[in-house]
Amino acid sequence: MKWYDAIAPFYDLFTSAIYRRARAHLVTRLNLQGGERILVLACGTGQSFDAIVNRTGPQGKIIGLDYSAAMLSRARKRIEKNQWNNITLLQADARNMGPDLFLHHNIAPHFDAVVAVLAFSVLPGWKQVMQAAVNLLNPGGKMGILDWYRPENDLVTHTVNALANAEIGRDVAGYAATILNDFKVHKRYLGGNVWIGTGRKT
Ligand SMILES: C[S@@+](CC[C@H](N)C(=O)[O-])C[C@H]1O[C@@H](n2cnc3c(N)ncnc32)[C@H](O)[C@@H]1O
Repeated sequence: MKWYDAIAPFYDLFTSAIYRRARAHLVTRLNLQGGERILVLACGTGQSFDAIVNRTGPQGKIIGLDYSAAMLSRARKRIEKNQWNNITLLQADARNMGPDLFLHHNIAPHFDAVVAVLAFSVLPGWKQVMQAAVNLLNPGGKMGILDWYRPENDLVTHTVNALANAEIGRDVAGYAATILNDFKVHKRYLGGNVWIGTGRKT
């Protein structure tokens, strides 16, 4: 069983309050517009959907991609409860993300924004996945990232890595700055260990 299938029942309980403010700030920073198409990478239980739907409105289109059936099942419940009819969930390994994957599911493979919350510190092959996500952006499309960065090799790092099946020593912002235009870290949280940043495809 995948780690996130196992922890899905407790995920929201232990994470939603911790990241609520940063998540809201990230979506505000992205300045999403009504009717935009948004890819939510490694969407998990869909904690970001609310803020995104509020911005893109009923004409917007949101695709949530994740490979954990249990996390997606909670995302589906959230969608049903809120009666959002413009969100599609796609169960897939992010490493297979490319135009063909989306076309195969009758989803147009281009987006106005990609939202990646706590994704790149977890995803295997994260640099290739980030590049693949950028490739799916329309020209001028935006990427918004919320993630950890803690290079110290200490107990906190080991605990977070173990709990989240993550590698929070990855310099996600540093890499994003090499493949996105004007990538900026806007704000830090949790003692400076968690950050939000945005950039654009040239
Ligand atoms: C820390 S959770 C973040 C969930 C969500 N983005 C949030 O904001 O709470 C990491 C997510 O990455 C997903 N994930 C891990 N590896 C993946 C992969 N190779 N392809 C797709 N999703 C993956 C997990 O299933 C999990 O839902």
